[in-house]
Amino acid sequence: MTINPLPSRIAIIGTGVIGSGWAAHFLRNGMTVTAYDPAPDAETRLRQKIETVWPTLARIGLHPDARPDKLHFAPTLEAAVADAEFIQESVPERLPLKIATLTAIGAAAPPDSIIASSTSGYGMTEMAIHVRHPERCVVAHPFNPPYLMPVVEVVAGAQTSPEFHQRAVDIYRATGKQPLKLTKEIPGFVADRIMEAVWREILHMINNDMATVEEIDMSVRYGPGLRWAMMGPLTVLHLGGGEGGMAHLIHQFGPSLQSPWTFLEAPELTDELAQKVIDGCNRLTEGRPIHELEAERDDLLIRQIELLNQSRLWHLGNPHQNSQLPIANSQLTISPPPHPSTTGSAFPKPKSNPSAVRKTNAAQDAPNPQSPITNHQSPPSAFYDDTLFLQTTRPWQSGDPVEAPLRLYHTTVPHAWIDYNGHMTEAAYLAAFGYSSDEFFRFLGIDDAYRASGSSYYTVETHIHHLRECSEGAPLYVTTQILDYDTRRVHLFHTMHHGDTHERLATGEQMIVHVDMAASRSSPARPHVLEALAAIRETHQNLPTPKEVGKPMGIRKK
Ligand SMILES: NC(=O)c1ccc[n+]([C@@H]2O[C@H](COP(=O)([O-])OP(=O)(O)OC[C@H]3O[C@@H](n4cnc5c(N)ncnc54)[C@H](O)[C@@H]3O)[C@@H](O)[C@H]2O)c1
Repeated sequence: MTINPLPSRIAIIGTGVIGSGWAAHFLRNGMTVTAYDPAPDAETRLRQKIETVWPTLARIGLHPDARPDKLHFAPTLEAAVADAEFIQESVPERLPLKIATLTAIGAAAPPDSIIASSTSGYGMTEMAIHVRHPERCVVAHPFNPPYLMPVVEVVAGAQTSPEFHQRAVDIYRATGKQPLKLTKEIPGFVADRIMEAVWREILHMINNDMATVEEIDMSVRYGPGLRWAMMGPLTVLHLGGGEGGMAHLIHQFGPSLQSPWTFLEAPELTDELAQKVIDGCNRLTEGRPIHELEAERDDLLIRQIELLNQSRLWHLGNPHQNSQLPIANSQLTISPPPHPSTTGSAFPKPKSNPSAVRKTNAAQDAPNPQSPITNHQSPPSAFYDDTLFLQTTRPWQSGDPVEAPLRLYHTTVPHAWIDYNGHMTEAAYLAAFGYSSDEFFRFLGIDDAYRASGSSYYTVETHIHHLRECSEGAPLYVTTQILDYDTRRVHLFHTMHHGDTHERLATGEQMIVHVDMAASRSSPARPHVLEALAAIRETHQNLPTPKEVGKPMGIRKK
């Protein structure tokens, strides 16, 4: 089999929770997606789902060819797969239906197309018993939502050829996923076996009134779940053994494995037990609709992944880590997070106001090295707590995607930033924008060595608009947009947002100047900094110019 570049024609069979998520994933990667699902409202539901998640896809990065109108809906399964290069089957989890559907796909699809099943637990050997050319069939078990969750377990059946198996793995990896290539066909694969063991234990605990739904979810959410988000359970245990690692842990805790801590056997899923679990989940989620919870989950997942991605720990032992989001690949460009007020309209509208940048006087003038300037240094006092100064942004490398706008700084408002009115004090806004500029400098590749060699950026002008109050403990993030730049100056615009509501809280417009610190004069930035600026500006030039830019201050006369 020839290893082509990525397939461009994808078929999605079954467009429920998982199939629609796969459709979003492949559309995001610029591919043409043809879907089939016999449910009467399936097409409407699928198109609505794609429209709803498109701003999320834009936020994590779209292929230049990605367009929602590349989604087609076929009247039959045969029409959907007729010229497909890659087929993702996501019909309900019933073995006879899986067998019938895969058989029909195999009969109608081109013989060298790849057929992947989203099954949560069946093996391809038992599902592909009647498939024409079963060597091209793999299990590709995703996690919900497939357009955000990185891992996909790619499992070969007895008849799957190593070439098709590898090709499927390569395709998933090239579209930004973390495929786990499994050659042993064990029921439930790896992740679902682990989750199944946990699920059984949970049902036992509820059945025996040992713990409530709330207690179980809280114990994991605020406990092991947090660690599992950055390390696998074995690494967690390895660290639990202290300096002696896993060896010490096994020695110390091995005997307790004999204690009857868990039940392991699944309980009988009686109506009573099922209802108990269902009622508990409804209570826990306060009866809120699933789509609302999904939107919040997606936002949180991205922020969590962005955060974890900054840590080497999360990448420990992974040779396939990506330089930016693990769910991104280098062909994708990133859009800003959707603002609640624009989410509805963000779908197919083109961006406006191409390169209208209003220049302030400061932007026109060369800097006066004697004028008062802010030197971005490591902050010294308690007001500038070390934990507020992240220093975690990775320097941009040639070819990396660039967010538009950049989102480099986030924090939680500390007590020290609260004034006698109970709100964030005005100096703290400048501190937050200062830290954002510091993260921006790191993104440009300006580090301690750069400064030690005598060059740095200084701030010559800042204009802050306070838009909303902000209280202690509020999560904040700052987006940063380049309005203009030349070899010596950068005209920056920071926007501070509330981390949960995405409301705009403040804006900070800044003119920064590259200086030769010994001569105390402006000087051209180094080539790698200018290359990063050019890449950022190219992505940012189509962003709308914020209305606060260049706004004069004064009392308007009636
Ligand atoms: N939901 C999850 O979290 C999850 C996670 C990983 C894998 N999976 C697996 O993905 C698959 C789909 O699960 P789901 O949660 O999306 O189910 P779902 O019930 O949400 O969607 C199934 C869809 O398949 C359609 N369908 C039924 N018969 C069909 C047929 N003959 N041809 C084409 N479409 C048909 C249904 O109309 C429905 O829209 C299952 O194998 C499941 O085990 C689910």
